Amino acid sequence: MTKLSVNINKIALIRNARGNNMPDILEIASSCERFGADGITVHPRPDERHIRYQDVIDLRPRITTEFNIEGYPSPRFIDLVLKVKPHQVTLVPDAPDALTSNAGWDTVSHAAFLSEVLEAFCAAGIRTSLFVETNTRIIEQAAKLGADRVELYTGPYAEAFVHHPETAARPFALAAEVAHKNGLSLNAGHDLNLHNLKAFHEQVPYVEEVSIGHALVCDALYMGLEATIKAYQNCLK
Ligand code: PXP
Repeated sequence: MTKLSVNINKIALIRNARGNNMPDILEIASSCERFGADGITVHPRPDERHIRYQDVIDLRPRITTEFNIEGYPSPRFIDLVLKVKPHQVTLVPDAPDALTSNAGWDTVSHAAFLSEVLEAFCAAGIRTSLFVETNTRIIEQAAKLGADRVELYTGPYAEAFVHHPETAARPFALAAEVAHKNGLSLNAGHDLNLHNLKAFHEQVPYVEEVSIGHALVCDALYMGLEATIKAYQNCLK
């Protein structure tokens, strides 16, 4: 069973546009769970333009499924994660001003930094995941650093799927085998949507969790949140 973790950053972006509490992030997270989400993902960025650090703290006691916090491991982010103790932390190498995550870690160049950070989360009992591309050496190194999982950056899959739907998932299926062989569990995320998710799920083995935000929130504008979450879950059956 591949789990669906709903990234609620875009909901926070709408709330922040008006400076009040509409929509209410805590209510939305609970509704996502009630409608069938297996987890909630948040990605606090340094400028707090969508999810705020305080949201992450407030969400913790509300979440009854799995809580995944993703982001760049700055000292402030590390403190937040250690305080909140989610089920999983996903480390992403995005610059403070990045519009969205658009690359995976170079686990070789950043080995010393990553192993220190991973160790701190591991000691706190928090499952760790490193956001990576499909490169074999990078994935093997993620295992050596002690990560529990890798999250495959699926942006390139989504792009390739538009023109080459039959072959787009191939590098990801190979990367999944490498991760599995090296004892890593596997997540995937970025630019997954109702058109490309089913094929990814059918062709890429061992994926424990996908985290999806942008497309899911856009689909909810047309279909409503409940029907949308059910439609995404249908792609994962
Ligand atoms: N995984 C990571 C590491 C991300 O940074 C994001 C975007 O915040 C996602 C998954 C979800 O991507 P999308 O919003 O395109 O579904």
